[in-house]
Amino acid sequence: MDRYAVIGHPVAHSLSPDIHAAFAAATSQSIRYEKLPAPRDGFSLVAERFFAEGGAGLNVTVPFKEEAARWVNALDPAAREAGAVNTIARRAGRFQGYNTDGAGLVRDLVDNCGETIRGARILLIGAGGAARGVAGPLLDQRPRHLVIANRTEPRAIALAEGLRQLRRGALVEAAALSAVAQRFDLVISATSAGLDGAGVPELPPESVVGACCYDLVYAASGASDTAFCRWAEACGARRVVDGLGMLVEQAALAFELWRGVFPATGPVLELLRARGV
Ligand code: ATR
Repeated sequence: MDRYAVIGHPVAHSLSPDIHAAFAAATSQSIRYEKLPAPRDGFSLVAERFFAEGGAGLNVTVPFKEEAARWVNALDPAAREAGAVNTIARRAGRFQGYNTDGAGLVRDLVDNCGETIRGARILLIGAGGAARGVAGPLLDQRPRHLVIANRTEPRAIALAEGLRQLRRGALVEAAALSAVAQRFDLVISATSAGLDGAGVPELPPESVVGACCYDLVYAASGASDTAFCRWAEACGARRVVDGLGMLVEQAALAFELWRGVFPATGPVLELLRARGV
């Protein structure tokens, strides 16, 4: 039975084992998928041991995605652009790194939520690893423009500059959070602001009025929504969506890379929502 795992720090609350078990059952694949905790400075040691003991593939989560990109032997284009890997597959004894986060977000927005990215005015909040992971795949869908706003404006400027260099003609601008003045069709929060209880980014409320507001983070167990979603709703967002769908879609893309079959995601998302995740 092929073995897979999610490696992270911490990893105890990861939903990935449940998601992959559901995919495996639905596609009649016989796999084992476990949680692989690693100390903060122990990614390579734990990953190497896992593969030496016969592991077939890893999902990589916080804080190891950038380190994983340096550890693998080869990167797919999305992982290279993001500088981060969320999926590793062993192929002929070599380790191939992929990043399915951005494609997972696009699938959730377009296929599950019915949103249109082509021609949309998009605001991306944040300029860290999570923002870098989704910016390229969003631009691939040809939005009208993408504004990147970050608390620390120089990071937004650097990310926008890098994207413009790689994608000639892409309309990408940077802004300070407080200076965002336009209206948007889609507002995507890629910050860690709500994670440590520090609240929501200090964004002018006008910028989310009428927009679909998407938080890459998903609502914690028992909570009906994330802090960002609640704030956006109160400000007049057209709709709010948390990142559970993205989590399921990025997992399905990883499952396909490993097993060669794309599992249905709708039933798994429904299952998790029904469980109050
Ligand atoms: P990740 O890999 O999760 O993106 P990161 O690279 O540390 O983590 O980036 C965290 C992002 O959340 C950054 O954009 C950060 O803004 P700064 O660059 O100004 O640090 C953003 N962030 C974290 N806490 C925030 C807060 N309270 N308000 C606004 N932005 C916040």
